[in-house]
Amino acid sequence: MRPPASAGNLALSPDAVFGGDAIAAFSERDFTTVRQLIADYAGIKLSAQKRNMVYNRLLRRLRAHGLHDFGQYLQLVTNDVRGEREAFVNALTTNLTAFFREPHHFDLLAALAQDRAAKRGAPLRCWSSACSTGEEPWSIAMVLREAGCPGDVLGTDIDTDVLDTAQAAVYRMERTSGLPPERLRRHFLRGTGANEGLVSVRPELRAMVRFGQLNLQSPVWPAQERFDVIFCRNVVIYFDREFQKKLLQRLADLLVPGGLLMVGHSESFPAAHPGFRSCGRTAYERLGG
Ligand SMILES: C[S@@+](CC[C@H](N)C(=O)[O-])C[C@H]1O[C@@H](n2cnc3c(N)ncnc32)[C@H](O)[C@@H]1O
Repeated sequence: MRPPASAGNLALSPDAVFGGDAIAAFSERDFTTVRQLIADYAGIKLSAQKRNMVYNRLLRRLRAHGLHDFGQYLQLVTNDVRGEREAFVNALTTNLTAFFREPHHFDLLAALAQDRAAKRGAPLRCWSSACSTGEEPWSIAMVLREAGCPGDVLGTDIDTDVLDTAQAAVYRMERTSGLPPERLRRHFLRGTGANEGLVSVRPELRAMVRFGQLNLQSPVWPAQERFDVIFCRNVVIYFDREFQKKLLQRLADLLVPGGLLMVGHSESFPAAHPGFRSCGRTAYERLGG
C-alpha cells in the first residue's frame, strides 16, 4: 500500500514508487540539506517551490547508486564519493538555451565585429560565461565569422554534462530550425546515414571556440584574460544579490574599456554599477580608459 502523500514533515512525492515497491522519502530536512549544498557549491538559491523538481532530478542519482534513502545519498554528495558532487550539481542546474537566443545581443555583436574587421584590429575576444550546451558560444562564433572578424571565443559552465555536448558540437536538426538556411549551410554539416537528423558545427567555427569548466562562484578563476564581450545571460537569476554584486565587479574587471556585457532578459544587475552604461536592451558598455 502507498503511504500518504505527506506524513508529518516527511513529504513523499505521489509518484515516488521506487523500483516498483520501495518509496524514497524526501524529508524537509533532506530538502534543506540539498538547498544548502547547491548554494555552497554553485551559488544557486533554490526556492521552496523547486522541491518536486529537486526530488525528481535527484531520484535518478539515487537509482544510479542503487540507493533508497536521500539521507544516504546526500552523504555521498557531502563526502564527494565517486565524484558525486559533480553529478549532483549537474542534476540540479537548469540548462535551457537556444541558438541566437535574445537576438538583439547578436546585432550589437555583429556591429562591433564589423567595425573590428574593417579596422583589421586584433581578434575579438568573447566569453560565454554560462554556455550550457554551447548554442550561445557557437552563435557568437557564427556572427564573427560572418563579419569576417577574427575571434577567440571561450565557453564555460559549471555543468560538465552540458560542456560535453557543447564541445561535441553535434545537435539535432530541430535545434537549428530557427536559423535561416544560408546560415545553416554556412556553419553546419548535415549528417547522413546513421547521422541523419543531426548537424555538426563546421571545423572553421570549431577553430574559433574553446570550452572549459568554470564555477562562477569560485574565488579564483583560472584565466585572467580580458574580453571585448562577455555574455552572462540567464544565470544570475539563480544567485542572490550579494553574489550578483561580487560577480558583476569581477566581470567588470575582465572587460576592456568599451567592452560589452550582455545579460539575460530579466536581469538588470549591471544598471546600478558606475562602471557601466546601458547601450541597448540588457546590454551594457564598460566605461573607462
Ligand atoms: C539557463 S542556462 C543559460 C544558458 C545561456 N547563457 C543562455 O542564456 O541561453 C544557465 C546555465 O548556467 C549554468 N550555471 C549555473 N550555476 C553556475 C555557476 N555557479 N557557474 C557557472 N555556470 C553556472 C548552468 O549549468 C546552465 O547551463
